[in-house]
Amino acid sequence: MQPSDDDDDVANLMGKFGAKADRYREIEVARVFTETPAPPPAAPQPPASTPIEPASPPLVQADAVAPGKTTTPSLRTLLHDLARQRQAQVTQPHQEPHVAAQVIAVVSTRGGVGRSTLASLLAILLNGADRQAIVLELDPQNAQHQHLGIGPQTSGICQASLERHSWRELAQTGYANTRLLAFGESDSKQLHALEQELKDNPHWLAQHLDELGLGEHDTLIIDTPAGTNVYQDQALCMANLIIAVIRPDAASHATLERLIASLKPHLQGERHTACWFVINGVDTSHALSVDIAQILENQLKSQLLGTVIWDDAIAEALAYECNPFEQSAESRGCQDILAIADKLHDQLESQRP
Ligand SMILES: Nc1ncnc2c1ncn2[C@@H]1O[C@H](COP(=O)(O)OP(=O)(O)O)[C@@H](O)[C@H]1O
Ligand SMILES: [Mg+2]
Repeated sequence: MQPSDDDDDVANLMGKFGAKADRYREIEVARVFTETPAPPPAAPQPPASTPIEPASPPLVQADAVAPGKTTTPSLRTLLHDLARQRQAQVTQPHQEPHVAAQVIAVVSTRGGVGRSTLASLLAILLNGADRQAIVLELDPQNAQHQHLGIGPQTSGICQASLERHSWRELAQTGYANTRLLAFGESDSKQLHALEQELKDNPHWLAQHLDELGLGEHDTLIIDTPAGTNVYQDQALCMANLIIAVIRPDAASHATLERLIASLKPHLQGERHTACWFVINGVDTSHALSVDIAQILENQLKSQLLGTVIWDDAIAEALAYECNPFEQSAESRGCQDILAIADKLHDQLESQRP
């Protein structure tokens, strides 16, 4: 091999240092490069517990998280949350729509106390030539159709809301020309989606009521599920009048203070919401039931709208699918409810603008 120019350069240079060219060794620059070495490639992530849920790195080091604290939600969850918030902003006007109708929310702490019974019977009695009563069933029980003598309702406000349809065409006619907006049938997936919508949009009910175009001569009675829940929250936010139903028993007495405290925040708004109590189902054949009813009446005083005895005519009317005011209007229970409806009618008239 012929010596190259490079070999001569090396020989000359080595000669200057008194060394021989054959002692020369090429040095690999990369080996002596002294800058901080690049970090080793990240260790492979352990597989996520669910294959569809990609694991996202925690925002803080794992050892900085206090034991027992939840980890950061996955990116997928965060993206879904963001999309939901945007959707809520789109459908949510800056101002809550104004509803001209008088809105009554029927609530209770416990189930089976007679909310649906009172909602339907008061609607029957308040409905008249000058005033349309509408029952809105904001309760997945979907039982109100039975109270108002309408066939089972498959579709209702649940499905319509999820499919983004208006509630305008949904109302069915019940006893005494009352109108019912039934909840309709639902499965757990639909309920989950609907309840999330109610949580995300505090004006959800106001917007749907706006679609109905209710006037000041309409009375909307909202039947709600027992206890604190998203349906009750929405109903309470729209109500001019709250009717809290209690049973004359030890359990209702024990939870009365809690019920009053939970309703209080809803009485302080611009709506000037009034709250009244109904003691329902006094068993006149049991001294304890009568005595507890007496104690509750003393406690509630002017907050009491009325007391209704346990009347088989009311229970039978539901069982035999008839309007109790057509079958047994003279019964004591029906008379108690008539007295409550009279008082309510006067209250609604006094609240009219
Ligand atoms: N005052 C009453 N007298 C007789 N039966 C009643 C009375 N109030 C309610 N009921 C009956 O009690 C049961 C539960 O009433 P319901 O209105 O469905 O309760 P809720 O809606 O609070 O769960 C129904 O069978 C109903 O007919
Ligand atoms: Mg009910």
